Amino acid sequence: MQPARIMEILNVAEIAAIACADWSGKGDKVAADQAATTAMRNAFNDIEFSGRIVIGEGERDEAPMLYIGEELGRGGEEIDIAVDPLEGTNLCAYNKPNALTTIAIAPKGALLFAPDTYMQKIAAGPACVGKVHIDNTPEENVRAVAEALGKDVSDVNVCILDRDRHKDLIQGVRDAGARVRLIDDGDVFGAIATAVPGTGIDLYMGSGGAPEGVLACTGLKAIGGTFMGRFRFRSDDERARAEKTAEVDLDGVLTMDMLVRSDDAAFLACGVTDGEMVSGVSKADGCVTTESVVMNAADKTVRFIKTCRRGENGVVRFH
Ligand code: FBP
Repeated sequence: MQPARIMEILNVAEIAAIACADWSGKGDKVAADQAATTAMRNAFNDIEFSGRIVIGEGERDEAPMLYIGEELGRGGEEIDIAVDPLEGTNLCAYNKPNALTTIAIAPKGALLFAPDTYMQKIAAGPACVGKVHIDNTPEENVRAVAEALGKDVSDVNVCILDRDRHKDLIQGVRDAGARVRLIDDGDVFGAIATAVPGTGIDLYMGSGGAPEGVLACTGLKAIGGTFMGRFRFRSDDERARAEKTAEVDLDGVLTMDMLVRSDDAAFLACGVTDGEMVSGVSKADGCVTTESVVMNAADKTVRFIKTCRRGENGVVRFH
């Protein structure tokens, strides 16, 4: 994606983060999500492009904004968009780390339409490409990561969503001798963090939302990491719905090139609450500051961008 386009989309992620950060710690995840979604949609509509939501807030009849198929913008270049306007609604509502606004963009037709179901996922950083596999045991994967990173197995940190369904996986990782970093929510962060130095996360495993899998995969593709997925349907009904729009084998391994079918994709995330990868929205002296990460597969760059917005009476001070 062209840098100018990236900056426009970055602005959208930032505006959404500022809007929902007002709800951080207020205990109302619905209001927080609504604020992010409304702000994101309005900001997208200001851009001269023809955007189309392929992953969003849901089907048209259940989501009034950023629904699948919604067209955004004032017209121009055709771009497909995946969004999770507030990734980690509870993290924001209860002021816990790593709530993010997230956006992936790619040329028309490049992002897999991911049905609203679960996806089993494995993600790791660039050193682990070709070394881990979704069908390997936790022990095999942990050992492969240790070898690739030149660490002892006991120093490998595996991020997993804290869910009952992951009981065996968590035990498997601990039995292998590695550490587990449990997260309450937010597996886009968990997966992406494996490729971002300083987060302390080496490997992500477990099942979470399928749409979140496409978002995370876009970032990992840009940064040169590795990701694999497999749909995990929770009911026959979910599967039947997925069959109507299936673009891939619904039981097979989903590779990065199946999830993101272009090398011209980009992933952007702006911090809402403070986290290991980016800080959350902060306000001082009438100035609102955001921190974002931008991963652009086209030029293979990862940028951390701190933006200070002056309010009417604000000044920008660098302390
Ligand atoms: P929300 O932002 O919609 O609250 O989702 C957060 C999240 O933790 C995702 O990061 C993850 O993929 C999914 O929910 C896991 O779903 P579940 O809570 O059903 O295990």
